[in-house]
Amino acid sequence: MKIVVIQGPNLNMLGVREQQVYGPMRLEQIHAQMKEVAAQSGVEIEFYQSNLEGEIVDRIQECYGDADGIIINPAAYTHTSIAIRDAITAVSLPTIEVHISNIYRREEFRQKSMTAPVCTSSIIGFGPFGYHLAMVGMLQILSEITAIREAQQEGQA
Ligand code: DQA
Repeated sequence: MKIVVIQGPNLNMLGVREQQVYGPMRLEQIHAQMKEVAAQSGVEIEFYQSNLEGEIVDRIQECYGDADGIIINPAAYTHTSIAIRDAITAVSLPTIEVHISNIYRREEFRQKSMTAPVCTSSIIGFGPFGYHLAMVGMLQILSEITAIREAQQEGQA
């Protein structure tokens, strides 16, 4: 099983940008924690960050036939990107959207997510801990999928 973590624009600046909103943790630290959980669960994990919309679309498309689940924080593109929304729909994989801040308590333009309606679920406003919650959630989804596949195979045998 393989999870791909996709991080949108300016998330490479975590730990530097707006610490009062996003906290002091750096992206590498968040990823290191997720890597540990993945290793403990015997799941492969890959990380990708881009500041460019098209590159994020490309990375989502690459997940098709390669990954089993996506954890994505589209950052500012959350609020604008039909292209990222369409890519998530196109690959049709379990997808969890994460937001570090509670976008519903912030400026009005952040309160709409273009992408959340096509994701399996969303984790919002838990700070960097939200990525850990997303890992736990994704592992649960993947174990349910495995159980269904195994039951189907037994049924066919
Ligand atoms: C964010 C919220 C977005 O509105 C913002 O543009 C970000 C980060 C979050 O994780 O809280 O860059 O996605």
